[in-house]
Amino acid sequence: MKYYSIVHTLIIASMISASCSGGGAPVYLDASAPVEKRVEDLLARMTLEEKVGQMNQFVGLEHIRKNEAAMSAEDLRNNTANAFYPGFTADSVAEWTRQGLVGSFLHVLTIEEANYLQSLAMESRLGIPVIFGIDAIHGNANAPDNTVYPTNIGLASSFDTDLAFRIARETAAEMRAMNMHWTFNPNVEVARDPRWGRVGETFGEDPYLVSKMGVATVEGYQGDLSSDDVLACVKHFVGGSQPINGTNGSPTDLSERTIREVFFPPFREGVRAGAMSLMTAHNELNGIPCHSNEWLMEDVLRGEWDFKGFVVSDWMDIEHIHDLHATAENLKEAFYQSIMAGMDMHMHGVYWNEYVCELVREGRIPESRIDESVRRILDIKFRLGLFEQPYADESTTMNVRLCEAHRKTALEAARKSVVLLKNEGLLPLSPEKYHRVLVTGINADDHNILGDWSADQRPENVITVLEGLRMISPETDFVFVDQGWDPRNMSENRVQRAASVANTCDLNIVVAGEYMYRGRWSERTSGEDTDRSDIALVGLQDELIKKVAASGKPTILVLISGRPLGTEWAAEHLPALLNAWEPGMYGGQAIAEILYGKVNPSAKLAVTIPRSAGQVQMIYNHKPSQYFHPYAVTPSTPLYPFGYGLSYSRYEYSDLVTDRNEIHAGDSVEVSVKVKNTGKIAGDEIVQLYIRDRYSQVTRPVKELKDFARISLEPGESRTVRFTVTPDKLEFLDKNLNPIVEPGEFILMAGPSSADRDLLKTTVTVIR
Ligand code: BGC
Repeated sequence: MKYYSIVHTLIIASMISASCSGGGAPVYLDASAPVEKRVEDLLARMTLEEKVGQMNQFVGLEHIRKNEAAMSAEDLRNNTANAFYPGFTADSVAEWTRQGLVGSFLHVLTIEEANYLQSLAMESRLGIPVIFGIDAIHGNANAPDNTVYPTNIGLASSFDTDLAFRIARETAAEMRAMNMHWTFNPNVEVARDPRWGRVGETFGEDPYLVSKMGVATVEGYQGDLSSDDVLACVKHFVGGSQPINGTNGSPTDLSERTIREVFFPPFREGVRAGAMSLMTAHNELNGIPCHSNEWLMEDVLRGEWDFKGFVVSDWMDIEHIHDLHATAENLKEAFYQSIMAGMDMHMHGVYWNEYVCELVREGRIPESRIDESVRRILDIKFRLGLFEQPYADESTTMNVRLCEAHRKTALEAARKSVVLLKNEGLLPLSPEKYHRVLVTGINADDHNILGDWSADQRPENVITVLEGLRMISPETDFVFVDQGWDPRNMSENRVQRAASVANTCDLNIVVAGEYMYRGRWSERTSGEDTDRSDIALVGLQDELIKKVAASGKPTILVLISGRPLGTEWAAEHLPALLNAWEPGMYGGQAIAEILYGKVNPSAKLAVTIPRSAGQVQMIYNHKPSQYFHPYAVTPSTPLYPFGYGLSYSRYEYSDLVTDRNEIHAGDSVEVSVKVKNTGKIAGDEIVQLYIRDRYSQVTRPVKELKDFARISLEPGESRTVRFTVTPDKLEFLDKNLNPIVEPGEFILMAGPSSADRDLLKTTVTVIR
């Protein structure tokens, strides 16, 4: 670090003195000058090649070296997680960095490499620092030795926006401590298909909840966008969370109404909250690849929403305009289409600089168009203080990463993200009653609980479920029967062994689910690029559950998964079921604390859990006619509805009232509901408010979440929760897609879940 600082100071000093002798210090190096002036000054000094270089990103040198050694060109075409550049080496990329032809890196996983690459950039003619981007989706987990929080689907189940904000702040601190400046999060896609492997990195199926969590996350990362903060990236714009066949990046075909009502709001709110970068989606949208979609990037994003940040492409997706979607005849044409549609930065590759410079020289892309993108990128680099602070301190980095306060938040978040789905009086467990307990299942003693978008972390920083159980109930004899980590290759013998051991135990805990660990990319069953045609448990997991339960001993199923799983048999036959999602580093401790009643569960589902993939699309906010003709043979109801989750307390809802029965369009109405903890222990309840427009000129969902509150109640305590229903909550898009509040009756519903049976109802009428 010291070496880099000295070199940096010398370079800057020599630049200042060089330009002093030519008359005046360069404004762009003057930290006290306004950012706009610094940007313009720097831009005026840059060659075309340097400008186009700012618009390009590369994967880090270590990443390239590792993959050069391990992958073939064929692997490269089919594997979207890894990369290298055939015909070029890591040294070529290092040299381009020295020449000022690289604006950004991604997939750099250590502070040492980040500082090293930055030192190359600082050697370049103008000393423009690179911005390091990383997929810090739930903490900066993709790099080793960082705090790993639950993934977004678990975090959303807490309905705790303050917690989301805090996690984002802590993540920003850990990122800056390792010289990372830009996280490719929040993913604010509205998840509408559980077959899609990326549900776990979203905040679920509801546009309102996704917006709230997304905004808190953006604000937490970005702060006031200065040297303590990181740049947020709302992604992926747009529609990829409702792919036609459930697979990542497959086409989406959506009406403009659905796009505007369901998929746009979280992006719009993210932009309003100040998100200064946005990533376009892999998929084509209604026949046009998102990466060459001018309507999305220019008309909506910049035109309607006044977005001032920069747009980054997703992994090789500009290339895919040519080699996959085939709407450009060659790569150069793909670059042309994307830039002219509004793209600012290219993730990632080698031909960008050459072709884009050619396009400018040929007069096809005006240089002023390049200047626009470079301005947006430089603006962020200045604001984040990269010119003044290009390095992070290697000697103090671990003072921040994994510090006590961050670990505490990770544990709190795990506790608040585990959803108790079923409990027939079995939980909380008493150690006096169950002395010998079988623990089995692929996720019982595995770091897979960290979730997708996590590197493996040191064992001392992860508590598996088995470890958590032993820690929380030391007097219990937990007998572990290993089922291996791989759901596809489970062994009948091991299943049989668990079944025999179950006969000798008082209770069974099966920890099942999906496998998400990125280090075994091709063996995963869930996560990015890992989609499924059904949502049942993979392999012998169901057989394991049934055989263990056949012992007649009470059996608990704990699910570790990013996507909803249709475990219908277990839901019907077992006395207790928990969905722990991808709970992160302290997942095992949180699960054990909940099982043994040290923590009262409070989380609620951020997505509907269907019974089977055949029920897809299954969402709570569907249109009125969706189940007019129910399915034959099997039920049309979900296994568990959105917003649902149990506690060890009971909450009684009463007195749902509004302050007025009638309002004019444009007015707000206050609604309140009383909630009482009638249980024996203190707990947190998530109070939900839904609205339905009774009659309207276009069809409206049967209900929509419009507000929620997370409250703590002591036993016997009651609280009146008040919500303000503002006009935007009654608004919808009319036949011409213009926002309108129509006169007529609105049904207001409040309760502990989205299920009709759980909701109190009242009405308010909008009068002319
Ligand atoms: C994913 C993005 C991610 C990028 C960089 C892509 O495959 O779709 O979400 O940010 O890779 O890792």
